[in-house]
Amino acid sequence: MSLALATAHTQPLPSLPDPIGTGYPCSQLEDWLGLSFWLPALDPRLQNIHLGEPAPTAPLENLEGMVRYWTEHPEWMDFLDPNSPTHEDKLLERALYLEYWGEILQNATRVLDIGGGVGRLGQIPLQNGAELQVVEPDLRSIWRNLSHAVGASGSIDFHWCTAEHMPNLGLFDTALACEVLNYVEDPHKVIRNIHRSLKPGGRLLMSVEARWGWPMARDVAPQTLDAFLDTGIVHVPHDRWIRTYTEDDIRDLLKDFQIRFLQRSHYTLSGPFEWAMGDVDIETLIHYENTLRNHPVSHKLNRAWMVIAEKPHND
Ligand SMILES: C[S@@+](CC[C@H](N)C(=O)[O-])C[C@H]1O[C@@H](n2cnc3c(N)ncnc32)[C@H](O)[C@@H]1O
Repeated sequence: MSLALATAHTQPLPSLPDPIGTGYPCSQLEDWLGLSFWLPALDPRLQNIHLGEPAPTAPLENLEGMVRYWTEHPEWMDFLDPNSPTHEDKLLERALYLEYWGEILQNATRVLDIGGGVGRLGQIPLQNGAELQVVEPDLRSIWRNLSHAVGASGSIDFHWCTAEHMPNLGLFDTALACEVLNYVEDPHKVIRNIHRSLKPGGRLLMSVEARWGWPMARDVAPQTLDAFLDTGIVHVPHDRWIRTYTEDDIRDLLKDFQIRFLQRSHYTLSGPFEWAMGDVDIETLIHYENTLRNHPVSHKLNRAWMVIAEKPHND
């Protein structure tokens, strides 16, 4: 639930500024910079996972893995920090997203960021004055997300929950689910929640890991090749669980939306094509993405799908 219900770890929390609509103005959140705090967990399973207990279902093991990585490698996790070793890579990936989503994000006024993480994409509408509501099951990501939002021209609030358990937050013109639907327990329920949250004509910007390209990733886990040959679900116990998607899976999931854009993506962002390409600027990367997408051999080896889907005007 909202920052209004945040409670302190040790010292009292600063007071909150008056909200604008249902978000808190980021320009007045300086006193929250770097703070850790509790929020009510709208999915009651999250509290134990946050405290280091094993997750009760396989998809939630992603969150168990995140708790461990926040302890062992916080510098990888908070990649919006310019000192993070993955900062440049993650911003290059964001530049690729913005090539297709940028105009919608820059013009959005009320944005729902499902699984918003540390705020990589949510920062764009926030810097353009939008209201951002973040639904995120990893509390440590929420703390960093809030710190990165401080000083932006928009307003923000946070909800500590899985997307399956998200509250009714009113209507949005834009919803983001960037690299999230791979990790959820019930993607159809999550898409129903997003559909319910969008105005008619509102847009969903979504990306997911793709069915065939994932073993090309630099950090592919050993003992997962059977997932390529069999279910398409990559499971490393207590570390990661990833549902990969075919084009048909995406079309089935989004059957109540009009799909405006569906593109194979992320050929060059991790793994052999990345190494063969070397360090490049975003224009060169987009050139290689387009070339590999149209090449008869590499075509099916996209790591991800990028989507823009619209809630029909008559819904
Ligand atoms: C790969 S990160 C992407 C973060 C962010 N969207 C971005 O692009 O930088 C996946 C995010 O999904 C979140 N997540 C995992 N399971 C989820 C669930 N059931 N509902 C909502 N978010 C979930 C994780 O906590 C994490 O922040």
